[in-house]
Amino acid sequence: MPNCLSRARFLNRSSDGLRNRLSLLFVTGAILILTLSLPGCRKQSGGFDELTRLAEGTKTDKGLSGHYYTEIYDLFFLPLKNRAGKVLEIGIASGDSLKMWRDYFPKATIYGIDIVPKTELDSGRIKTFVADQANRSQLESFVGKFGGNFDIIIDDGGHHMNHQQISLGFLFKYLKPGGYYIIEDLHMSLPRFWKGYGVSPDESNSTLNMIFRFIREMRLESFHMPRPEEKYLTRNIEFCNLFMRNRLYVESPSIMCILKKRTAPLSIMSSQESRRETKKRKSGAPKPPKR
Ligand SMILES: C[S@@+](CC[C@H](N)C(=O)[O-])C[C@H]1O[C@@H](n2cnc3c(N)ncnc32)[C@H](O)[C@@H]1O
Repeated sequence: MPNCLSRARFLNRSSDGLRNRLSLLFVTGAILILTLSLPGCRKQSGGFDELTRLAEGTKTDKGLSGHYYTEIYDLFFLPLKNRAGKVLEIGIASGDSLKMWRDYFPKATIYGIDIVPKTELDSGRIKTFVADQANRSQLESFVGKFGGNFDIIIDDGGHHMNHQQISLGFLFKYLKPGGYYIIEDLHMSLPRFWKGYGVSPDESNSTLNMIFRFIREMRLESFHMPRPEEKYLTRNIEFCNLFMRNRLYVESPSIMCILKKRTAPLSIMSSQESRRETKKRKSGAPKPPKR
């Protein structure tokens, strides 16, 4: 009898232990799942975000095998994942990035512009169009056919200074309020590393210098845009986020810029208006009371 009792106690204790271990395993699993689903902890299989994994699958050079832009894009685009309806990319090549965007944004139609016809890629949610990104009337035909209101526009086309600036000047007004405009490969503005992209000897016309001037003077001015386009950009860019990847052992850095469009345009005054306004305010300002 005592033998039976101690056996029963032993069985009881070991099933308690098993239960404890199972609950510990369950709690740990739940914490792990919760942690992985938190936005700040999205490093998933392979240690990378979804867009970077898609980039690796499609072989576009936006991911780890190239410029490492996707991990930054994922930070900005994740909130738009299920909301974006229209994404445009200039520069199609084999269509790798168009497929990546299609798989990342399940509800979006992905539009691609290239100087070379790419109709073989046209399918359900991918639409291609032949246009030279430096030609305003060809860009106008594109917008005439497909409309505007893009959530995101990415320029990965010819990377010449006039390509980048003409497309930005023309297409920014076709971005949704709150949308993003990306200029990739701004390192082409650095003749020290890259030649033949239309940078003038004093480099004043480079796209990178246009952005630096905008940051310095809060006024966008370009050698390749008419005044109304410059004004529109100055009023409507909410922020400009420059990203530079120091790729160790690769001579040139990778540089891109994310511009966000304001949800409502800022009303700005010309510098003359602004000086007049400040003078008026100063002269009319109530004097502090005498003690
Ligand atoms: C770097 S590839 C694009 C790669 C693609 N976005 C990807 O990540 O898989 C550049 C593309 O831009 C196109 N291109 C070059 N100059 C252009 C221009 N002026 N207008 C439109 N597309 C241009 C080229 O034909 C080429 O297909």
